[in-house]
Amino acid sequence: KPKLRVALLGCGAVGAGVLAHLKHWSDRFDVNPVLVRHPMRYADSGDFTSEPDHALAGEVDIVIDVLVGSDFPASLLVPALKSGTHVVSANKAALANHYDELQQAAQTGGAMLNFSAAVGGGTPVIERLRALEGRVARIEGVMNGTCNFLLDRLSEGWTFDEALARARELGFAEEDSSADVDGHDAVAKLSLLIRQGFDVPIALGDIGRQSLREIDRTALLEAKAKGLVLKQVGRCELVDGKPVASVALEYLPAGHPLAAPRNEENAFVVTEKDGRRHCLHAKGAGRWPTAAAVFSDVMDIYRAVAARQTEAPSVATLRMSA
Ligand code: HSE
Repeated sequence: KPKLRVALLGCGAVGAGVLAHLKHWSDRFDVNPVLVRHPMRYADSGDFTSEPDHALAGEVDIVIDVLVGSDFPASLLVPALKSGTHVVSANKAALANHYDELQQAAQTGGAMLNFSAAVGGGTPVIERLRALEGRVARIEGVMNGTCNFLLDRLSEGWTFDEALARARELGFAEEDSSADVDGHDAVAKLSLLIRQGFDVPIALGDIGRQSLREIDRTALLEAKAKGLVLKQVGRCELVDGKPVASVALEYLPAGHPLAAPRNEENAFVVTEKDGRRHCLHAKGAGRWPTAAAVFSDVMDIYRAVAARQTEAPSVATLRMSA
């Protein structure tokens, strides 16, 4: 069995979960020092560094990006991919803002770029879209757990600030609350679903976006009394081959599949061109569901690398015996 060297970039809510998975499989993975902002915060701080060069030192097989931010993480991933290092990223902002550059770098280097944890957390929506390649007609979903949590709390009468503070305590709100509250995170995720589902380019600025700050509390409570549920919904379909997409606040009947997610859960409805519908609903954010999705991408790479390594000698053997 091969042992792969892994560079873990980031050790926040998700990264700490990923590190636990990697340590559990220490017969398969060697972890370089983990890139963090403040190494001294960690008891075993020798295993942590704030120097990207140190984190990426040596012959790294897989880079895992669970950093916050866009340009800086992308500036580390692009050269890694170009040099043939495989990448697993849960970093929706970096992926959405640098999608073409990252894919091109992966192609140049012949590297794998897996990002199933970037959308849906533990909900396998990227995986489903990959399986439905060429057959997708429409994608709809509740894809920001924090907004879903906030909307649940607001409809129970909590104030906005109370609800946001709780989402932070629970570890699924972004550092910059505007990313969640103003819909940027959902827009980034929807753009990745569009890329994966329709294989077409989309600029983030072309996706309509509505902020939770636009909520009318009176209307919310009146709608609730009528059995309607307020959700932040991302939608996209192709019109004349071009994606028409938005993230907006919608009142849905309680029985609608997108009305189902509670708290930080996510839900998606993917419709095929022949009308068949796929409904997915699971935990959308938080350490363990997201870390499990990251680790599943890592294991996919591990299996692919292991298969290549076992194939290689048999080809050589065949040549020798020919
Ligand atoms: N802040 C994000 C959310 C984290 O709440 O959905 C998961 O991507």
